[in-house]
Amino acid sequence: NMPEYVKIVEVGPRDGLQNESNIVPTPLKVELIRKLVDSGLPVVEATSFVSPKWVPQLADAADVMQEVKNLQGACRLPVLTPNLKGLEAAIAAGAKEVAIFASASETFSKSNINCSIEESLIRYRLVANAAIKHSIRVRGYVSCVIGCPYEGAIAPSKVAYVAKELHQMGCSEISLGDTIGVGTPGSVVPMLGAVMAVVPVEKLAVHFHDTYGQSLPNILVSLQMGISTVDSSIAGLGGCPYAKGSSGNVATEDVVYMLHGLGIKTGVDFGKLLQAGEFISKNLGRQSGSKTASALSPN
Ligand code: HMG
Ligand code: MG
Repeated sequence: NMPEYVKIVEVGPRDGLQNESNIVPTPLKVELIRKLVDSGLPVVEATSFVSPKWVPQLADAADVMQEVKNLQGACRLPVLTPNLKGLEAAIAAGAKEVAIFASASETFSKSNINCSIEESLIRYRLVANAAIKHSIRVRGYVSCVIGCPYEGAIAPSKVAYVAKELHQMGCSEISLGDTIGVGTPGSVVPMLGAVMAVVPVEKLAVHFHDTYGQSLPNILVSLQMGISTVDSSIAGLGGCPYAKGSSGNVATEDVVYMLHGLGIKTGVDFGKLLQAGEFISKNLGRQSGSKTASALSPN
């Protein structure tokens, strides 16, 4: 039941760089996106059109988009948009795809986007309608699909509810995020089962953070259940080094190494991917968060 091809959605420039304690210069972000696109990744989430008061790390979203928008065609470059203001700014900057991000946890919704789950769904319906009118594809995220930093375990039925709402408002893909990386195959399988009962599996993606080192087994069981879209972050970027329990997404290099080992196609040039990871790790002045990259590193 394993897929022959897996679509990797690279989220490093967004999910990774949004968490850097030092603000990364715009040209470095642009060069990273270029290298990721050049490695053959089909989708690279480029930035977020969110409030700069909430995420100062991505306040240069319009400048980044301006520099990379011409790469669209070779690669899809979605951006996060939390409201109509963000959607308008994204369109003005040349974005052709956006992502909206809801949560399965009430407390996390409040802390991340300053509103309840229901309020967010009302707002996102407006964003999705406006985007679709402009022929802009919309991805939907559900965060805290296994656990919440404030509420603890989250019931699969809550995840299924939010995923179904996002699907019904026209999202072409719904990414299920284990935001704090607490899931194991033991909790991921029932969560996916609940969501797959209400949203077709070909519309689903999985988004694992590697906090507890469970991402690869979680991805493997997701593939066995028919999922064929996987989010990951180059060099495992993300997570604040000062916040306990926060960690980056599973490293793209590790995911590609596993998929190619399984004989699954990704379209990614592994050598170029490793170079993109070395480039960003070197420029951020730290070790790669990818075990594969470290094992293959020339130094
Ligand atoms: P708010 O404070 O309730 O909103 O924030 P507001 O409408 O009162 O606006 C506050 C200020 O922000 C105003 O400016 C607005 O103009 C401005 P002021 O009048 O004070 O000068 N503003 C904006 N500026 C630029 N672009 C915009 C925008 N919207 C308002 N789009 C809001 C509500 C949703 C805006 C805020 O909470 C926000 O931006 N949140 C984003 C947080 C975020 O990006 N989190 C990380 C992404 S989610 C994630 O990482 C999880 C995921 O990876 C999946 C997983 O791991 O599970 C996706
Ligand atoms: Mg994330």
